Amino acid sequence: MPEIVLKNVWKRFDKFTAVADLNLTIADRGFVTLLGPSGCGKTTTLRMIAGLETPTEGEITIDGKVVYSSEKGIDVSPAKRDVGFLFQNYALWPHMTVEQNIAFGLENLKWAKDKIKARVTELLGTLKIEEFSKRYPNELSGGQQQRVAIARTLATGARVLFMDEPLSNLDAKLRTEMRSELKRLHSETNSTFVYVTHDQLEAMTLSTRTCLMKEGYLQQYAPPLEVYNNPANVFVADFVGSPTMNFIEGTGQNEGNGKGITVKAQGLNLLFTPASEKLDIKDGAPLTLGIRPEYIRVEAAGGVKAKIYAALPSGMETIVKIHLGGLLLTLVVFGAVDYPVDSEISVNFAGDNCVLFDRESGANLGLGKLTVV
Ligand SMILES: Nc1ncnc2c1ncn2[C@@H]1O[C@H](COP(=O)(O)OP(=O)(O)OP(=O)(O)O)[C@@H](O)[C@H]1O
Ligand SMILES: [Mg+2]
Repeated sequence: MPEIVLKNVWKRFDKFTAVADLNLTIADRGFVTLLGPSGCGKTTTLRMIAGLETPTEGEITIDGKVVYSSEKGIDVSPAKRDVGFLFQNYALWPHMTVEQNIAFGLENLKWAKDKIKARVTELLGTLKIEEFSKRYPNELSGGQQQRVAIARTLATGARVLFMDEPLSNLDAKLRTEMRSELKRLHSETNSTFVYVTHDQLEAMTLSTRTCLMKEGYLQQYAPPLEVYNNPANVFVADFVGSPTMNFIEGTGQNEGNGKGITVKAQGLNLLFTPASEKLDIKDGAPLTLGIRPEYIRVEAAGGVKAKIYAALPSGMETIVKIHLGGLLLTLVVFGAVDYPVDSEISVNFAGDNCVLFDRESGANLGLGKLTVV
């Protein structure tokens, strides 16, 4: 059971803190993405788990075995951590064929010839690259090279695989294709994947859990849909989802008796009714409401009057920007609909998935329902 546990892990480069007090448990057979903007500490975190970077403080355990501990003075070398790597530039040996590239690590481990042959054949099949087995890397497309690199990484049967933006060199179409391949591969290999990306969609679609970081600090560690629906703070809410969440800044007033909180924003009164827990705020508190574009619905009748700012049909869906009072909001409707600029429509807020944030700290105060009153 190669569970990976990070306890109070820090990495400082002189006075600069790249990773701060990180606590993380990566479940056996999980597919965990490390997500966040450039420079937030993703690669550094991955390299520390792999043993390529020494933490400044903390403890890392893989499969119940301490591989790093600042206190106990333990630092197990990467080779002894039973892990595989796949980096952005997958560096295949140019003078070796596909077969030879995959076999290389096994020969180094002094596997028997027939065992190597069987393993290479198996991997050529899994990655669907049998037909290229005798070719050299420069005779392959980027996506094919990528699959060879994955096969080579998988060859030794490491139970934990580290990947640092492995798809970033590929074009958009191939990247989408490779996402499904990676997901299948994860299910077929029964390995634990730790995957670095700054692409929120990649993290959303691939992972069982995503670890979102900002400036070295963990913001939220949860399954992608939970990150999407119940973001820990404004930063997370804004980072995940496209088009981005609508943020409405206003001041709050308690309605008392569990009736909710009225947020005054740009001449509108918006009533936020908490979904479960009772929420108490100070009257006049600065708040931010967050609502995802798909929860603003166009109504045939009833609803609140709004004015079209612009509609952007793209085929399968249409992104619509509307003026509601003094607010400019984005909504998404399914299918291609072209609303003329400045035409009137009616809208409503749907569902219990509006988020109330504290405007100063950015923290999520609760989920609830939103109505215009
Ligand atoms: N060897 C080093 N010496 C000094 N600072 C470093 C070193 N390695 C990384 N850093 C700094 O630590 C921070 C985190 O770097 P890291 O490579 O982990 O970021 P990242 O999240 O992977 O970003 P990207 O998406 O751009 O790859 C950055 O600000 C970087 O400049
Ligand atoms: Mg990086």
